[in-house]
Amino acid sequence: MNQAIIRPFYLGLLAWLCVFFVKAEDPYRFFTFEVTYGQISPLGVSQRGILVNGKFPGPTIDCITNDNVIVNVINKLDEPFLLTWNGIKQRKTSWQDGVLGTNCPIPPNSNWTYQMQMKDQIGTYSYFPSTKMHRAVGGFGAINIRARAVIFVPYLKPVEEFTLLISDWWKSDHKTLQQTLDSGKTLPMADALLINGHVQSTSFTTQKGQRYMFRVSNVALTTSINFRIQNHTLTLVETEGSHTLQESYESLDIHVGQSASFLVNLNAPLKDYFIVASTRFTKPVLTATSTLHYDGSTTKASLPLPWGPTYEIHWSMKQARTIRWNLTANAARPNPQGSYHYGTIPVTRTVVLANSAENINGKLRYAVNQVSYANPETPLKIADFYNIPGVFHLSSIKDSPPSTPPVIGASVMGFTLHDFVEIVFQNNEGTIQSWHLDGSDFWAVGFGSGQWNATLRKRFYNLNDATTRHTMQVYPNSWSAILVSMDNKGMWNLRSAIWPRRYLGQELYTKVWNDEKSSRTEYDIPLNALRCGKAPLN
Ligand SMILES: *[C@@H]1O[C@H](CO)[C@@H](O)[C@H](O)[C@H]1NC(C)=O
Ligand SMILES: *[C@@H]1O[C@H](CO)[C@@H](O)[C@H](O)[C@H]1NC(C)=O
Ligand SMILES: *[C@@H]1O[C@H](CO)[C@@H](O)[C@H](O)[C@H]1NC(C)=O
Ligand SMILES: *[C@@H]1O[C@H](CO)[C@@H](O)[C@H](O)[C@H]1NC(C)=O
Repeated sequence: MNQAIIRPFYLGLLAWLCVFFVKAEDPYRFFTFEVTYGQISPLGVSQRGILVNGKFPGPTIDCITNDNVIVNVINKLDEPFLLTWNGIKQRKTSWQDGVLGTNCPIPPNSNWTYQMQMKDQIGTYSYFPSTKMHRAVGGFGAINIRARAVIFVPYLKPVEEFTLLISDWWKSDHKTLQQTLDSGKTLPMADALLINGHVQSTSFTTQKGQRYMFRVSNVALTTSINFRIQNHTLTLVETEGSHTLQESYESLDIHVGQSASFLVNLNAPLKDYFIVASTRFTKPVLTATSTLHYDGSTTKASLPLPWGPTYEIHWSMKQARTIRWNLTANAARPNPQGSYHYGTIPVTRTVVLANSAENINGKLRYAVNQVSYANPETPLKIADFYNIPGVFHLSSIKDSPPSTPPVIGASVMGFTLHDFVEIVFQNNEGTIQSWHLDGSDFWAVGFGSGQWNATLRKRFYNLNDATTRHTMQVYPNSWSAILVSMDNKGMWNLRSAIWPRRYLGQELYTKVWNDEKSSRTEYDIPLNALRCGKAPLN
């Protein structure tokens, strides 16, 4: 090698090293979210909504695996407010989770800056207000985390991605809905279903012959949906951060809080088609449509709308069993998803959680193992950090449904860091349930009808290629089982994703703990942490 060659090589190495050191810290993305009331009219009549930066739905957070996402939330509402990041694991940062068990709410006319990292995550997620009934009138938006350039994704690249947020909608103001629940009544049935804030006026322009990705999230408060596109097949590629086996579907059920990404090939005759979302297991069935517009088409989408299931529960159960992990595909890291053989890990503890509707002091409440959760003034996480007595205790909820009368309380279940836990959601009610866990995703290993018992593991659990997810449906009078590795230290909300049930107590927290005090397992309380209740001022 002569000097002339060595020099560029050396300079190249230097440049590479510089890039390497700059990259040693993951990129930052900064957002300012101003949250205000504003007049919107999803149903053609002006009503009060909650806007983020003047928008309903709010802006999409587009980012890449491992990005640091900094969001300064400015609360211009007349009530304390928090956003939570549905499905974002908050690795080591339960301080940023944005629920009343971990954070003091942001008072009106003030702001708070969330600092979180999209650590080892890819996929389609959402954010929404976690306080009161705010999300019934907006404040929600999408979070799309794309894979790093060095990671091979197991599907052909789409030319464009579309984000669809499906929500249910009421003509009533959020404060009226809240009063209804506060007075001990059930929430009335929604008035409409919306796609990106509209019943039928959104449109997506596409080029014939191309491939598109549709990222669909069910951000509704109450209802499962069925999603479909007229004359087009949906190829499922991702659910909540898992790359699935790429099955084709005419339509797919997406339950409250869940999300799915599809690839769609635009290979039908040149015209427009209906994109349809309709409610599941409700009477009446609510439907929202949107237009899939082929560029150059002058022919409007034509009725009838494509068929979708409405009450069929068995149909949904059967379909859910076809959603499986692609064991050889990467997720956010280059190692295959299936290299983590979850089915071989010994379970350290089994917890059975039964939901119920109760009458407590003459009012409707929802409970988990006979405890209906009520938020203490002091966030659990802060009480725990400062050892403030009297806020919660770990024996407040049992590992299986007791036969004692229902009570109101602050239920926290304690786990040791790295416990591998089986949680069975037992639903003895005639309505569908949806359960969401913050802080970790879990393997959705199985579900079945009736009462769960240990002998059903053998027959019904998928211990090989169940997907990981953060939200699990539980069919009426049925059970669903998940396996979860409690490997994220913190205080985590385990809640009904069905919002009126959560508002009236169907939630609890899990405290994941070990005594090591180190930023290797959990970051310290943030410097800007808000104070409330019995929290010391600094
Ligand atoms: C509030 O916003 C300002 C910038 O407008 C920022 O400097 C400050 O850190 C924010 N406060 C908190 C508590 O995040
Ligand atoms: C769309 O599919 C329906 C049946 O599902 C069929 O009757 C119709 O001809 C198709 N239309 C087009 C334009 O492909
Ligand atoms: C599974 O992932 C691999 C990439 O490892 C991909 O080539 C394959 O097509 C995927 N299989 C299915 C059925 O989705
Ligand atoms: C477990 O449940 C199944 C299905 O309901 C039932 O057939 C079986 O008898 C139960 N086994 C035990 C030990 O309770």
